[in-house]
Parts: sequence; C-alpha cells; structure tokens
Amino acid sequence: LRTTVAIVGAGPAGLALAHLLHTVGIDSIVVDNRDRETIATTHRAGILEQGSVELLADTGAVTRVHTHGHEHEGTVFRVDGVDHRIDFQGLVGASVWLYPQNEVFVDLAQTRDAAGGTVFYGVSDTSPAAFDTDRPHVDFTDADGTPRRIVCDWLVGADGSRSVCRNAIPEAERQRFSLEYPFAWFGILCEAPPSAPELIYSRSERGFALISQRSDTVQRMYFQCSPDEDASAWSDDRIFAELQARVDGPDGFELTTGPVFERTVLPFRSYVSEPMRSGRLLLAGDAAHTVPPTGAKGLNLALQDVRVLFEALRDAVLSGDESGVDGYSDRALQRVWKAQNFSYWVTSLMHRDPQAGDFETRRRAGELRGLLESDHGRAYLAEAYTGWPRESRL
Ligand code: DHB
Repeated sequence: LRTTVAIVGAGPAGLALAHLLHTVGIDSIVVDNRDRETIATTHRAGILEQGSVELLADTGAVTRVHTHGHEHEGTVFRVDGVDHRIDFQGLVGASVWLYPQNEVFVDLAQTRDAAGGTVFYGVSDTSPAAFDTDRPHVDFTDADGTPRRIVCDWLVGADGSRSVCRNAIPEAERQRFSLEYPFAWFGILCEAPPSAPELIYSRSERGFALISQRSDTVQRMYFQCSPDEDASAWSDDRIFAELQARVDGPDGFELTTGPVFERTVLPFRSYVSEPMRSGRLLLAGDAAHTVPPTGAKGLNLALQDVRVLFEALRDAVLSGDESGVDGYSDRALQRVWKAQNFSYWVTSLMHRDPQAGDFETRRRAGELRGLLESDHGRAYLAEAYTGWPRESRL
C-alpha cells in the first residue's frame, strides 16, 4: 500500500487528522489494533473545549455535537458542601460542550466512510520503521491475518498512551517527564436523570468527586480512590453512599441515583515524551503526553496537536515547506505544558492527598478559597478550562 500520510491510531486524533488532510486533498491510511466496535463503546472523556468543537464541527467532521451535545456555559466547584459557580460565559465569553469521546469517534468514523477513507481496524503486529529516511513504512497484519506494508511520506503516531510509535523512537533521542499520584478515580455510568444542570467538581474531607453527565438518562460520576481499589468489590449502594458523602452540604443537595452499568478504576498520571518528532515520524495526543483527568484536558489537547500537525503536514506536502514540521514539536509542547500545569494544579487543589502534611492540606484549602473568592481567580480558571483565548491558541 502507498499513501502520503500513514496514521497509527484511529481514535479521535488519528481520524480527525485523516479528515483534515482529506479536506485539502491529501490522502492517508489509518490503522488501529482495536476493532471499530470496541473504540465506539469504550467510555472516555466527555468535555470538548470551544476550540475543539470549532475544529471538529466547522470542518464538517462531527456535526452531531450541535444536535446531540450540550453546551455548558459554566461549571460548579463545590468545596466542603458549598457551591462556587464558574460562569464561563460571563467571565471569559466561552463555553464547553458535553459530547462524549466515543460519539466523537462514531461521527469521525462515519465521515471517513462517506469520504471513502481507508481505515484498517483490528490489526496486529504494528511496526513503524524507516522514519529516518524519506520513505518510512509501517508493517502490520490486517484483521484477516494478511501481512501488509504501508509505504508513506510521513508517519503519524496517534496511538495512545501505550504508543508503539513513541516506543519506536530511539531512546537516546527522547526525554521523558512524569509524575505519579497517590490516588486514582473510580468511574461509573448509571441510568438516572442528571443531578444538576452543570458539572460539579467537589472537594470534601473524604476526597474528590466529579458529577458529570452523558445524556438525559445516563450519568457519569467519579470519585477519588486508592490506585489499587477493586471496582468489582463495590455495590451500587456503597458507590452512591460514597459519592453522596462527598457532595453533602448545608444546601441539602442530593444526587439522583440509578442502576450502575459500568464501574472502572482509571489510572492517574502526568507524562510527556519530548520531542514529539523523530525524522518523518510525528506524535500526537496521548502517544506523546498524558494528563490526569481533572480539568478534562486530554482529548482537547490531542485535538489541538492535530490542528497544529495538520497545518504543518499541509504545508510540507502541498508547498514543500517543512518549517511547520520542523517547528511542530516546540509549538505543540507549549500548549502541552500549559495543560499539564492546569491538570496537575486542579488535581492538587481538589483532591485529598494522603501524603500531604497538615500544613500543606491547609495551604491548599487557602489557595482554593483565595481563587474562588476572586473574580480574577475564577476568570483564570474559566479561561484555562475552556481552552484559553483564541489569540493565544498555538
Ligand atoms: C468528564 C471527565 C473529566 O475528567 C472531566 O474533567 C469532566 C468530565 C466526563 O467524563 O464526563
């Protein structure tokens, strides 16, 4: 097989890139080791920044976000049972959209189908090579067991946190930066109506909880837990008792509850691999960086990598101008580290840190109060949460 851009990874980053390249007439082939049904039904992130919606919807890739997604003009930070609303629209004139990642995938996959795009799902033995030459290739075995090779001009690794593309880059060329946390998230999906109109990020003595949503009938909620928590050991009643205890307050707020149909413990980590390029191999999204989920930056960061990478590849392929490719890693990493900071910072403000001393615990509570009581503090939060102003988007 021969194509201009071979993309490893058919998640939102890989498919969005294939779509954007198609809009300017550049052909690509995408491979993924997961089957299509698995990607479509794996529950991941839920929040799209305004810039992500623009990237996906304005280019015609994900039109259902406007009909099936929900615009959120603010969110609630609940501290020891007291609400502090962050009014995104009032503070910075921006919104976010609740539109689940697996729906983003379904839309993108259909858009690729309609355009006649080639995507191999369910492949195995994916092996990128020769990206230090101008004819890189990727070998794989397709879902029918046939060995195949894609020869390309550019190779993109959008293959997630266990990226084979990243791991194919020689050790001597890259640096890793990472941080572990002494907790994880217990995530559930349940059949119930929403508990509140907007998302609630709650800090309490018992630890963090996030009350998110999926639809009018399905809700997504998370609570801070130990990294070795056994999700199967929790009954529905115990889960809701723990969640309720973490949002209890003098206002008498009560969660809506219903049958839990998915429960998982999510890993929690900050990670960056630099640079995001080796020769003709370019990395995007989780392949190059992971953020803890607090603040909903992971998917959005991946999509912003794709936006920058698309422009770089377009200029390289259509005009022979490789300055964008040469600058890609530095440009993308500027935003990556802003988002790393935001994700780390909101995590540290909102979680109970079992390793923190009494001074540190009280200092963090003071920091959070100072932030939420200030118009400027709330505006800073709103600006970062909604994805920073367009002028500063790299
Ligand atoms: C969701 C996940 C997040 O990490 C977050 O910050 C907000 C929402 C979600 O899955 O709905």
